[in-house]
Parts: sequence; structure tokens; C-alpha cells
Amino acid sequence: MQVSPSLLSADFGNIQRDVEMLNASVADLIHLDVMDGVFVPNISFGFPVIKAVQKTAQKPLDVHLMIVEPQKYVSQVRDCGAEIMNVHYEVCQHLHRTIQQIKQAGMKAAVTLNPATPVIMLEDIITEVDMVLLMSVNPGFGGQSFIPNSLKKVRQLKDLITQSGSNALIEVDGGVNLETGAQLAKAGADILVAGNFVFSAPNPIATIEALHNL
Ligand code: DX5
Ligand code: ZN
Repeated sequence: MQVSPSLLSADFGNIQRDVEMLNASVADLIHLDVMDGVFVPNISFGFPVIKAVQKTAQKPLDVHLMIVEPQKYVSQVRDCGAEIMNVHYEVCQHLHRTIQQIKQAGMKAAVTLNPATPVIMLEDIITEVDMVLLMSVNPGFGGQSFIPNSLKKVRQLKDLITQSGSNALIEVDGGVNLETGAQLAKAGADILVAGNFVFSAPNPIATIEALHNL
């Protein structure tokens, strides 16, 4: 199982130290949550912080934009050194175009679904995307409880990917711990995002490894 620890739960006063911890771990990616206070009821951090993280990070950056009009920021996200740009289905009126623009900018394109958005909405875009990010909490905050219906959505998405011949990976974000992570692995998830579970653990490096071994 790949693991993408979310810096949202890191110590922002010691961000470099926490990124160095992730460098020393078996984390596959570093997940960065950008919030605008409009699409979600919270504000986190923006491009200057991602650029600062990139200077230290030795893992690919997985940037999750919880913002309206994400298509306006493709080149800025690329200039932050992002490997993956995640945009929410719910804010993209021209999702096909936005996916093409992300790929043309040299990044992997991922589309994110809120808990209430059905997987079938991706039927006509699934062969174009590199990854689908399924939210297993309502976006905006770390440390929330996993929504059990997400397991059904992972299975539905896995079926859609198989039937369409897509190469998209399935990433799941929110309320991930060893118990929900094991259920997600069984359902077909490829990548787990974990914020609170990693950064509140007494030993974050061992916690990342435990998730990685699922
Ligand atoms: C929530 C963010 C998540 C968050 C996950 O809106 O998208 O990436 O950091 O946090 P946990 O793992 O604490 O639920
Ligand atoms: Zn996220």
C-alpha cells in the first residue's frame, strides 16, 4: 500500500523537521491540502508554503486543492514542484479541459470526489485521469471520523477502472488509521492519505510503515 502523509496535521512551526521525518520514512508521497475558505469552511496554506516544503522534500508532492476555480492555478501548482494535482469534481465545470491542462503542464492529473458525489460521475473521464481521490470525510479538517460508505465507493471505482481499462490509481483521504486502512486495502485502494493518525502518533515513522505494510 502506498502512503501519502498529510502535512495538514504537521507542526507548522517545525515544518522542515516534519518534512525531514517524512523523507526518512517509507512514505511514497507527501500530501498537501490547500483550502480557500470558500469551497471548504477552512483556510490552510498556499503556494509559498508548498514551495518551502518542496525545498526539503525528497518525496513527490501530492497537492489536493480544496478551492474553487482550480483551473486558474495549474501553472502555479506546477511551479511548486507538484507531481500530482488533485482538483475537485464539484468545482470543475469543464473537467475534461482542466485534466488536459494539468497533464500538458507535466503533472499527473487527479480528480477528487466528495462523500456525496457518486463514483459514476467519473464514467466519461476515467480513462483520462492518473488518479482518483475519494474523500472519506467531508473536506476541510483533519482528524474527522471515516465515513463507512467510502468502502462501497472504492469497490465501485475499482470496477469502473477495471471495466474501462483505465490505469487510474485509487487514493482515499480522511479518517484513515490501521483499522480503516485495512478495510480500504481489501476494497481496492492503492494509496492512503493519513494526517492525524500519523502526526499524533508517538512514532510517526513506525506508523507510516504500518500503513505501508497493509
Ligand atoms: C481533509 C484533508 C485531508 C486531511 C486528512 O479535508 O483533505 O487530507 O489532512 O486528515 P485525517 O487523516 O486526519 O483525517
Ligand atoms: Zn487531502
